[in-house]
Amino acid sequence: MSSNNIQWHKLADHINLLPWQPNNLCVVSVAGKYITLARTSGDSIHACAHKCPHASGIMADGFIDALGNIVCPLHRYKFALSNGRNVSGEGYYLKTYAIEQRADGWYIAFEKKGIFSW
Ligand code: FES
Repeated sequence: MSSNNIQWHKLADHINLLPWQPNNLCVVSVAGKYITLARTSGDSIHACAHKCPHASGIMADGFIDALGNIVCPLHRYKFALSNGRNVSGEGYYLKTYAIEQRADGWYIAFEKKGIFSW
Protein backbone atom coordinates (compact mmCIF):
# COMPACT_ATOMS: atom_id res chain seq x y z
CA MET A 1 0.00 0.00 0.00
CA SER A 2 1.74 3.20 -1.06
CA SER A 3 1.42 6.20 1.22
CA ASN A 4 -0.25 8.14 -1.60
CA ASN A 5 -3.15 5.73 -1.39
CA ILE A 6 -3.71 6.24 2.31
CA GLN A 7 -5.84 8.92 3.87
CA TRP A 8 -5.58 9.45 7.62
CA HIS A 9 -8.57 10.66 9.62
CA LYS A 10 -8.45 11.78 13.23
CA LEU A 11 -10.56 9.74 15.65
CA ALA A 12 -10.00 11.60 18.93
CA ASP A 13 -7.51 13.62 20.93
CA HIS A 14 -7.43 10.94 23.62
CA ILE A 15 -8.49 7.29 23.86
CA ASN A 16 -10.88 8.14 26.72
CA LEU A 17 -12.83 10.53 24.50
CA LEU A 18 -14.10 7.71 22.30
CA PRO A 19 -17.60 6.36 23.08
CA TRP A 20 -16.53 3.03 24.59
CA GLN A 21 -19.17 0.54 25.64
CA PRO A 22 -18.59 -1.70 28.69
CA ASN A 23 -17.35 -4.44 26.29
CA ASN A 24 -14.48 -2.17 25.17
CA LEU A 25 -16.00 -1.86 21.70
CA CYS A 26 -17.69 1.11 20.08
CA VAL A 27 -18.93 2.39 16.74
CA VAL A 28 -17.69 5.63 15.27
CA SER A 29 -18.54 7.40 12.05
CA VAL A 30 -15.46 8.52 10.14
CA ALA A 31 -15.71 10.28 6.80
CA GLY A 32 -19.23 8.89 6.38
CA LYS A 33 -18.25 5.32 7.16
CA TYR A 34 -19.18 3.30 10.25
CA ILE A 35 -16.22 1.63 11.90
CA THR A 36 -15.90 -0.66 14.91
CA LEU A 37 -13.17 0.25 17.38
CA ALA A 38 -11.79 -2.19 19.93
CA ARG A 39 -9.81 -1.18 23.00
CA THR A 40 -7.38 -3.86 24.09
CA SER A 41 -4.97 -4.21 26.98
CA GLY A 42 -2.25 -1.63 27.19
CA ASP A 43 -4.68 0.96 25.84
CA SER A 44 -4.22 0.16 22.19
CA ILE A 45 -6.97 0.56 19.63
CA HIS A 46 -7.85 -1.70 16.74
CA ALA A 47 -10.32 -0.87 14.00
CA CYS A 48 -12.46 -3.17 11.87
CA ALA A 49 -15.60 -3.19 9.78
CA HIS A 50 -18.94 -2.24 11.33
CA LYS A 51 -20.64 -5.45 10.20
CA CYS A 52 -19.59 -9.08 10.21
CA PRO A 53 -18.68 -10.54 6.79
CA HIS A 54 -20.77 -13.64 7.52
CA ALA A 55 -24.31 -12.27 7.92
CA SER A 56 -23.88 -8.63 8.91
CA GLY A 57 -23.83 -8.96 12.69
CA ILE A 58 -22.95 -5.69 14.39
CA MET A 59 -19.43 -6.37 15.57
CA ALA A 60 -19.56 -3.78 18.38
CA ASP A 61 -22.40 -5.81 19.97
CA GLY A 62 -20.06 -8.78 20.33
CA PHE A 63 -17.07 -9.01 22.62
CA ILE A 64 -13.32 -9.36 22.82
CA ASP A 65 -12.25 -12.83 23.96
CA ALA A 66 -9.36 -13.71 26.27
CA LEU A 67 -6.99 -14.02 23.31
CA GLY A 68 -7.84 -10.58 21.98
CA ASN A 69 -10.07 -11.71 19.11
CA ILE A 70 -13.31 -9.94 18.33
CA VAL A 71 -16.31 -12.28 18.49
CA CYS A 72 -19.43 -11.61 16.43
CA PRO A 73 -22.64 -11.57 18.51
CA LEU A 74 -24.72 -13.51 15.97
CA HIS A 75 -22.92 -16.82 15.40
CA ARG A 76 -19.79 -16.28 17.47
CA TYR A 77 -17.30 -16.39 14.62
CA LYS A 78 -13.97 -15.03 15.83
CA PHE A 79 -11.60 -12.68 14.04
CA ALA A 80 -8.08 -11.51 14.89
CA LEU A 81 -8.19 -7.78 15.50
CA SER A 82 -4.66 -7.42 14.14
CA ASN A 83 -5.41 -8.65 10.61
CA GLY A 84 -9.06 -9.74 10.34
CA ARG A 85 -8.22 -13.43 10.03
CA ASN A 86 -11.18 -15.67 10.83
CA VAL A 87 -9.47 -17.61 13.62
CA SER A 88 -12.51 -19.82 14.28
CA GLY A 89 -12.05 -21.27 10.79
CA GLU A 90 -15.19 -20.48 8.81
CA GLY A 91 -13.23 -18.89 5.99
CA TYR A 92 -14.37 -15.29 6.22
CA TYR A 93 -12.25 -12.16 6.42
CA LEU A 94 -13.06 -9.10 8.51
CA LYS A 95 -11.80 -5.84 7.07
CA THR A 96 -9.37 -4.11 9.42
CA TYR A 97 -7.89 -0.62 9.35
CA ALA A 98 -4.55 0.74 10.52
CA ILE A 99 -4.59 2.90 13.63
CA GLU A 100 -1.86 5.29 14.64
CA GLN A 101 -1.30 7.16 17.89
CA ARG A 102 0.33 10.53 17.33
CA ALA A 103 1.27 13.35 19.70
CA ASP A 104 -2.09 15.03 19.08
CA GLY A 105 -4.35 12.00 19.12
CA TRP A 106 -5.51 8.83 17.41
CA TYR A 107 -5.85 8.38 13.66
CA ILE A 108 -7.33 5.76 11.34
CA ALA A 109 -6.14 5.01 7.81
CA PHE A 110 -8.43 4.47 4.86
CA GLU A 111 -7.10 3.17 1.60
CA LYS A 112 -8.11 5.26 -1.40
CA LYS A 113 -9.05 2.96 -4.27
CA GLY A 114 -11.22 5.29 -6.25
CA ILE A 115 -13.93 7.85 -5.91
CA PHE A 116 -16.62 5.49 -4.69
CA SER A 117 -14.71 2.90 -2.69
CA TRP A 118 -12.09 2.90 -0.06
S1 FES B 1 -23.13 -12.77 11.32
FE1 FES B 1 -21.23 -12.78 12.35
S2 FES B 1 -20.85 -14.85 12.72
FE2 FES B 1 -22.67 -14.86 11.58
